[in-house]
Amino acid sequence: MESILGKMDRKGLQLSLESIVENLTDIAGVRVICHYVDDIYEVANLLKSHADVEVIKETDYIKNPKPNGYRSLHLVVKIPVYFVEGMVKMPVEIQIRTMAMNFWASLEHKLRYKSNGEIPKFIADELKACSETIAETDLKMQRIHSF
Ligand code: GTP
Ligand code: MG
Repeated sequence: MESILGKMDRKGLQLSLESIVENLTDIAGVRVICHYVDDIYEVANLLKSHADVEVIKETDYIKNPKPNGYRSLHLVVKIPVYFVEGMVKMPVEIQIRTMAMNFWASLEHKLRYKSNGEIPKFIADELKACSETIAETDLKMQRIHSF
């Protein structure tokens, strides 16, 4: 609740249930951790092939990592949820990443939380370098696995 209210405030949005439902697509979320990069796209394609899953946004932070080095595949999908009153299509944020990308993202998140959002530059630089090493290693592991 606290983070939902905080985000509505940051986005300058009015505080009402309708506005929250309309503007926040990450109230429900699922994170899928894979061994290999190829598995990420396989999982994404399987999801997309479901007749009742409607993809409303796809952001590929693996092909286009964030400037800080963050890597993951993000999908926002709408899925039917059945209530007594009837069916509602609810958005769900799905993050798909490798174990190594998850290792990186957990530490980055923890550091950002600890330093109130502003990670000191020398640490941020080290993290970015780790993200690149991780991406290379992910690809090497993929190649060895597919051999
Ligand atoms: P918001 O409306 O602010 O949630 O923007 P968005 O959903 O468009 O942002 P984005 O898709 O970039 O990020 C959504 C989620 O991905 C975050 O809540 C995190 O879980 C994860 N994420 C995105 N960027 C980072 C990052 O730089 N570091 C880490 N650790 N996680 C990230
Ligand atoms: Mg989000």
